[in-house]
Amino acid sequence: MGRRILILDTTLRDGEQAPGCSMNFHEKLEMAGQLERLGVDIIEAGFPVASPDDFRAVEAVARQVKDCQVAALCRCVARDVERTWQAIRDAAAPRLHLVLATSPVHMQYKLRMTPQQVLDCAVEMVRLARGLCPDVEFSAEDASRSDPAFLAQVCAAAAQAGASTINLPDTVGYSTPQELGALVAQLRQKLPEQVVLSVHNHNDLGMAVANTLASIQAGAGQVECTINGIGERAGNASLEEVVMALHTRKDYFGCETGIRIRQIYRTSKLLSTITGAEIPSNKPVVGGNAFAHESGIHQHGVLAERSTYEIMRPEEIGIYRSKMILGKHSGKHAFQERIEELGYRLEGEDLEEAFSRFKDLADRKKEITDRDVEALIRSTAVADLREAYKLESFVVNSGTVISATAVVKLVREDGQVLEQVSRGEGPIDAAFNAIDRIVKMDSHLENWSMQAVTEGEDALGEAVSKITCNGHRITGRGLSTDILEASIRSYLNAINKAIAIERRDSLETQRLRALRP
Ligand code: KIV
Ligand code: ZN
Repeated sequence: MGRRILILDTTLRDGEQAPGCSMNFHEKLEMAGQLERLGVDIIEAGFPVASPDDFRAVEAVARQVKDCQVAALCRCVARDVERTWQAIRDAAAPRLHLVLATSPVHMQYKLRMTPQQVLDCAVEMVRLARGLCPDVEFSAEDASRSDPAFLAQVCAAAAQAGASTINLPDTVGYSTPQELGALVAQLRQKLPEQVVLSVHNHNDLGMAVANTLASIQAGAGQVECTINGIGERAGNASLEEVVMALHTRKDYFGCETGIRIRQIYRTSKLLSTITGAEIPSNKPVVGGNAFAHESGIHQHGVLAERSTYEIMRPEEIGIYRSKMILGKHSGKHAFQERIEELGYRLEGEDLEEAFSRFKDLADRKKEITDRDVEALIRSTAVADLREAYKLESFVVNSGTVISATAVVKLVREDGQVLEQVSRGEGPIDAAFNAIDRIVKMDSHLENWSMQAVTEGEDALGEAVSKITCNGHRITGRGLSTDILEASIRSYLNAINKAIAIERRDSLETQRLRALRP
């Protein structure tokens, strides 16, 4: 048994702060469920005082998750600490995570506080938090650019006041492995043994994972990371890279985690589907090329003996490729079996929905690969089944000598069929304009992208449309072998989500009105 390293996943907090990675309420719950299956020790669910939406999402995650701790971040401000506690107090194992900067530049220009004020504030707020929550983490923001003696003084005082985890963030990704390792070793000596020392590394100079591993070697007992390395600016240390480095080089690090590594690929894909942020093909562990062998010499070596060029096996992280291809004659039983082989579990309405999408796809695509099946399952898992509008049909005309026109027919949930014609800058713009004319929502398309799920002429395409609507940023996804249809479905998916949010907001307003004296 190696030394057990705790994994705090901050995908739903630091990760979600990254541009293009925002998630709505349902998406956060979906992601939290998968992080629980992945086996992280602590889910940092969000920053509840940031907005009522954030509060609601953290509260729902705290109530839903049973198998790991749920943390929420807050500033060292009394009302924030109290409000944040309200969001997580129903969790099976809540954690209040307090942050206060300790570097000269942050104290002087951001906090406008003297070092003594910072020290006093840290102690006072940790005491307050500890009076509310049995588990408190204290983060010394910008720790790597802080004066080491002052940092040690604040961390020791916070631990003395009741923080059981002390986190040293390399907030701006400035540190190097040797430097951070030395800082962790120094702090480890100064803090009581029962206090867990944690690191939180940003990737501005591409060293987040290396810094995290060096910190573990120097005595860190907890590491904070995100799926696919998403996070502020260049992101955070990527969970899958840290975990697979510890797993693959256990001989060297002598450490282990509680992560179920077979869930890694699925978690990474789910996040990418939810946020629409693609995984670069050369991304370690989960990128499309991570297990691809292109050169003849490598292919020959791998065929003769895998370990010539493979240090990890794709199956270990849950990439499973079956030799059996599904097609239009495959029945529900075969489809369900394949889903289970791939490690997913779909039941009831979800299974029916996925199977009906599979049948639609099988009518258009001769061979359905595991990647197609995974894309179908992912889009079913994140689909809002209570769609206000469903696509009935569309016709689009476009070319170099005419302006694009689209006719789109939608079926509203009350059964009414609605049709509109519109022009546009191109076929997609024309189709989206026709949808806008039907649904009459005050929304704005921010971004649209398209990605092939599999190779070949009949490849399945996955379109992502990002819209803003009443201040909410919403991501919609659509799948089809036809890129126009995938695009229309992605836009409609975003619109349906916007309608669901609007309905939820108006219910909340009615509830608050009813509560007024
Ligand atoms: O980067 C950082 O300093 C943080 C803290 C809030 C932990 O995200
Ligand atoms: Zn951070």
